[in-house]
Amino acid sequence: MTSFTQISYRNAFCMCWMLSFALLFYWQANLRGRHMFFPPRPIPNLRPHVFNLSDFGAVGDGTTDNTKCFEDAVVAIKEVAREGGGQLNVGPGRWLTAPFNVTSHMTLFLAQGATVVGSQDVNLWPILPPLPSYGRGRELPGPRYGSLIHGQHINDFVLTGHNGTIDGQGAWWWEQFKKKKLQYTRGRLVQFMWSSNIKITDVTLQNSPFWHLHPYDCTNVTIQGVTILAPVNAPNTDGIDPDSCRNVLVEDCYISVGDDAIAIKSGWDKYGIEYNRPCVNVTIRNMVVHSEISAGVSIGSEMSGGIEQVLVEGVHIWGSRRGIRIKTSPGRGGYVKNIHYQNVTLIDVRVGIVIKTDYGEHPDSEFDPEALPVVANISIDGIYGSSVRYPVRMFGSQEVPITGIEIRNMDVQLTSKKKNVFTCEFIQGRVIGKVFPTPCKALVQEEFAIV
Ligand SMILES: *[C@@H]1O[C@H](CO)[C@@H](O)[C@H](O)[C@H]1NC(C)=O
Ligand SMILES: *[C@@H]1O[C@H](CO)[C@@H](O)[C@H](O)[C@H]1NC(C)=O
Ligand SMILES: *[C@@H]1O[C@H](CO)[C@@H](O)[C@H](O)[C@H]1NC(C)=O
Ligand SMILES: *[C@@H]1O[C@H](CO)[C@@H](O)[C@H](O)[C@H]1NC(C)=O
Ligand SMILES: *[C@@H]1O[C@H](CO)[C@@H](O)[C@H](O)[C@H]1NC(C)=O
Ligand SMILES: *[C@@H]1O[C@H](CO)[C@@H](O)[C@H](O)[C@H]1NC(C)=O
Ligand SMILES: *[C@@H]1O[C@H](CO)[C@@H](O)[C@H](O)[C@H]1NC(C)=O
Repeated sequence: MTSFTQISYRNAFCMCWMLSFALLFYWQANLRGRHMFFPPRPIPNLRPHVFNLSDFGAVGDGTTDNTKCFEDAVVAIKEVAREGGGQLNVGPGRWLTAPFNVTSHMTLFLAQGATVVGSQDVNLWPILPPLPSYGRGRELPGPRYGSLIHGQHINDFVLTGHNGTIDGQGAWWWEQFKKKKLQYTRGRLVQFMWSSNIKITDVTLQNSPFWHLHPYDCTNVTIQGVTILAPVNAPNTDGIDPDSCRNVLVEDCYISVGDDAIAIKSGWDKYGIEYNRPCVNVTIRNMVVHSEISAGVSIGSEMSGGIEQVLVEGVHIWGSRRGIRIKTSPGRGGYVKNIHYQNVTLIDVRVGIVIKTDYGEHPDSEFDPEALPVVANISIDGIYGSSVRYPVRMFGSQEVPITGIEIRNMDVQLTSKKKNVFTCEFIQGRVIGKVFPTPCKALVQEEFAIV
């Protein structure tokens, strides 16, 4: 006799299987970006006037060139600048474009699933004069390619979204660069010059031909919740390079790229000295960064206009060649001073803290070897980590001594190597409290801070 309970067990068993399959299917569908049960997130209206890229004739099929559509949208936003400006919504799709300029009082909103794709047609990239504080392109003499998204002399621009993407399709550029086939320095993905009140939040930047995000001589730059990705073998694909800027805040970002994740700069040798614009008041906090071939957070090597008042706080650096680094060279002039690092974690890093004063790399042979940089007043409070090969290497020189170093609370566990793990030359300063590994002799050990 088949009992009632046997049947219901069988039914329950079937139900469970069906439910499992439904869940699996639902999960798979969501992985592919198709949200079956939830509609796309509604796009907030952030400006008095809202435009849709599609209304300018754009096609998000990955092959249609939408440059004219972006440019027309920017013109439409210029016309409403006096009324608080306009927002340009970019919906799901792959929107191919050549470089274009953005404008003041504009919000570029990238919806979930929206990707702005950079053209690989080199003839569509404008050629711009060198940056005045560099005197030439960074990697090749003469002018340089413009950037995919470019803003010059603008005020109040926002790039945001529901984590939409700007993809520079850099692979072609990286190959050309490696084969030495390019005539000019590669373009940035996003660049602002001589601009103020720039905000970049909740977007993904990836595969830039060259540096990803380069604010140059700007005031009030906020970068939050941005993901920056490029393969490890993508040359010079720095994440964020604040350059001769004032009041910069970078927080809550994830960066994994083929060069420095962050590099704070201010011009190159005599060009930077003449341009004379320091990078001042920069905060980098709550970040996770990965730079397999370079550094997590760098200062320099271009620092000829001076760099001061930098706070690097709550930064987690993993799988990197170097953790935090200051690099400069005779010929640079300028200074790096009043730099504070707090609560930095290093996991699986080759060299933890690096100061290097003989970096070399000059724009031309006209640099003045007597133009000596100043490196002073650098505090490091709370540095933790594991699997670090050389926790500290700070090398000043007779010409460029390092002064005013203060290290407090350090506990960095080593890989197997035990020798030369904390080395210094031409350095003056002190360590306070518990510092592991044992500091170099040049740093004076103090048990308690003298207030
Ligand atoms: C833009 O307009 C197109 C066509 O009218 C529409 O399908 C799309 O949902 C709109 N996108 C946004 C982001 O408003
Ligand atoms: C953007 O503006 C700059 C400065 O006016 C100009 O040189 C450049 O050609 C413009 N770029 C594009 C793509 O129009
Ligand atoms: C944004 O997209 C990137 C790339 O797909 C992803 O790695 C990141 O986790 C996303 N960020 C958020 C907040 O969803
Ligand atoms: C920068 O921001 C501060 C504080 O919001 C503001 O007072 C100042 O005017 C801004 N600077 C520029 C050049 O817009
Ligand atoms: C420094 O920059 C921050 C933004 O990171 C800003 O809030 C602050 O007002 C700036 N400080 C000064 C003295 O301008
Ligand atoms: C230190 O930084 C980490 C991120 O690397 C963060 O999770 C932690 O909360 C910070 N600790 C303090 C005391 O701020
Ligand atoms: C470093 O700090 C000391 C003590 O506050 C100060 O006297 C010195 O001028 C500072 N050095 C530089 C280069 O600013």
